[in-house]
Amino acid sequence: TRTGSVSVFADREEATRHLADWLLQLATEKTEGPFAIALSGGSTPQSLYSLMATEPYASRFPWARMQFFLGDDRFLPHDHEDSNFGMMQRLLFSRVPVPAENLHPMPGIGTAEDAARSYETRLKQFYGADTFEADRPLFDVNLLGLGSDGHTASLFPGQPVLKEQTAWVATCVPPAAPYTRITLTYPAIHASRHVVFLVEGAGKKEAVAKVRAQDPSCPASAITAMGDLRWVLDRAASPDA
Ligand code: 6PG
Repeated sequence: TRTGSVSVFADREEATRHLADWLLQLATEKTEGPFAIALSGGSTPQSLYSLMATEPYASRFPWARMQFFLGDDRFLPHDHEDSNFGMMQRLLFSRVPVPAENLHPMPGIGTAEDAARSYETRLKQFYGADTFEADRPLFDVNLLGLGSDGHTASLFPGQPVLKEQTAWVATCVPPAAPYTRITLTYPAIHASRHVVFLVEGAGKKEAVAKVRAQDPSCPASAITAMGDLRWVLDRAASPDA
């Protein structure tokens, strides 16, 4: 059964700490097999990644049992200032004892199409199958952000990638954004035990309301039926506040 919950907090700091505590509990509770998490890019989750790299989280997360993937990235070299993986490296991975082989960045060189194909191969190798098996998720947690236009990962309104029902990874050239993106598709996000949106700021209030009203023009709406869906909002982003 699919469940969902909304947690609203006074501000970004409180929301971030709640999410870090929730992730820590999930990761430590999982004893058999790796804990696989797909991280979101953008600016909102940066406070979460920084917090995870500080005490008490840095010494309490089971880093060696965690496998880190990305929900999407800009198709850029990882040392580019706008690379999501580069941001995660700076804020988190360079500051905690996570084994390098547990990090799974999306390629940022070559062609975007080759990068998407090779990432899909890596996901399938990790999963151990080419198609999803019922009740066996690929990710334990899929952490997503939300754009003010309702996009999530790099699933932007009106883009062909929204129709992708077979591939696990695809490219997307968002209308406004300057870079080609590599992104998980709906099927890959669907294969998550928990899907959590971390959203903050009044600029997202309208998008959150649209998604919760199941507005089909809003890509994130299609995700609300997937996995155990959670919203972690600061009060400014909550339509109910
Ligand atoms: C990215 C993200 C993207 C992000 C939203 C919200 O690569 O930018 O994956 O989907 O989550 O655009 O971004 P902010 O957190 O910066 O508002």
